[in-house]
Amino acid sequence: VAVVRDAETADGPALARLLDQLGYPASLAATAARVRRLAAAAADRLVVVEHDGEVAGLACLHVDLPVVSDVPVARITAIVVDRAHRRRGLGEALVSELEAEARRRGCDLLYLTTAERRADAHAFYGRLGFEQTGRRFAKPL
Ligand SMILES: CC(C)(COP(=O)(O)OP(=O)(O)OC[C@H]1O[C@@H](n2cnc3c(N)ncnc32)[C@H](O)[C@@H]1OP(=O)(O)O)[C@@H](O)C(=O)NCCC(=O)NCCS
Repeated sequence: VAVVRDAETADGPALARLLDQLGYPASLAATAARVRRLAAAAADRLVVVEHDGEVAGLACLHVDLPVVSDVPVARITAIVVDRAHRRRGLGEALVSELEAEARRRGCDLLYLTTAERRADAHAFYGRLGFEQTGRRFAKPL
């Protein structure tokens, strides 16, 4: 059974493992600090999904106040499911919870950006009803 809940500092080791799989390795201390920082940030929500009592995935939401609209919009800033637990609906459970959160906060759009190379993720988003609507330009600072 999949249970989605808010991330806690004690999830640090599992979250660090998941960030590594996403391609963003981080120390335990840095991961725990991010959990605390996100928990304190009103515009963000970091959740985990448990499968059989084990943390098997994470996802994070950020709510933006756009200058082009009166209504907030929500962005999925990260999502990853442990390799050993993929294709069991856990990613879908994570997105569903973030979508519900975005609706509760009055958002009229849920969006995300994803690297060109992540073909698996593109298939996943398409299946969940997301459409490709733009391009992402980035400039490292
Ligand atoms: C993308 C990701 C989060 C999906 O998680 P998941 O738990 O495996 O996804 P689900 O089991 O909920 O998949 C739901 C549906 O999406 C589609 N889907 C998911 N993964 C897919 C894949 N690799 N190829 C094709 N379709 C896929 C399927 O239709 C699937 O339903 P089905 O298994 O009944 O066919 C996971 O593959 C992952 O962590 N990838 C690596 C990290 C990553 O790329 N994150 C996104 C960064 S932008």
